[in-house]
Amino acid sequence: LQLKTFESVDELYDFAAQFLQQKVKEGAKTFGLATGGTMQPLYKNLRQSDVDFSNCTSFNLDEYIGLPIEHPESYFTYMQKELFEHKPFSKNYLPNGLAEDADAEAAHYNELLAQHPVDVQLLGVGENGHIGFNEPGTPFSEKTHVVTLTASTREANARFFNSIDEVPEKAITMGIANILQAKEVLLIAVGEKKRAALESLVRGEVSVDSPITVLQQHANVVVLTDLNISLA
Ligand code: F6R
Repeated sequence: LQLKTFESVDELYDFAAQFLQQKVKEGAKTFGLATGGTMQPLYKNLRQSDVDFSNCTSFNLDEYIGLPIEHPESYFTYMQKELFEHKPFSKNYLPNGLAEDADAEAAHYNELLAQHPVDVQLLGVGENGHIGFNEPGTPFSEKTHVVTLTASTREANARFFNSIDEVPEKAITMGIANILQAKEVLLIAVGEKKRAALESLVRGEVSVDSPITVLQQHANVVVLTDLNISLA
């Protein structure tokens, strides 16, 4: 695990954007992408860069179940606005949160992922250590699956909605088994709220109680943070 601490978030996001650009230049074809507040400055940085994803494929980690596609907070809309409208890929995959059979959709997503091994997986982290929407307690063996979001995750995401009642209760997420398949992982954790989760990664035991800790078992993880965290 490589932990890089930045004095300023601007430097952090410059580094992250350049990291991804470099991967494209080196021939990475398939990118695992994330949403959330953490990724917005990164996507802004990429929009303003000359990065060319036109020969690349993307797979998003997750999508809410039941939000109309045009809903401003669907991850589909988020990705269009933040990145895809500005930087086209050859193909963008997201789980379809409106599929009639969400479990079948998850199985289909696993098949697609098996056909397109992810070169670089971008990750944020939840305050409770979740990665994707793999909440504490999720077995590490899970692939893409349907999840019921925890109250704390719905509260954390309520800031993007008019009220917490509008935050969907379920989502489809890539599982930890999928995430571990990526050749390389770039995780970004910014702000004090992420301290406990990040500390669990660098200090803690590997435990389903904090899903991020599973990254200790991955051979190629780069973590970018503005938090001062010392390796134990
Ligand atoms: C988003 C995702 C989530 C977020 C996490 C942090 O696609 O999979 O795991 O990365 O909830 O969210 P923010 O960045 O809003 O703090």
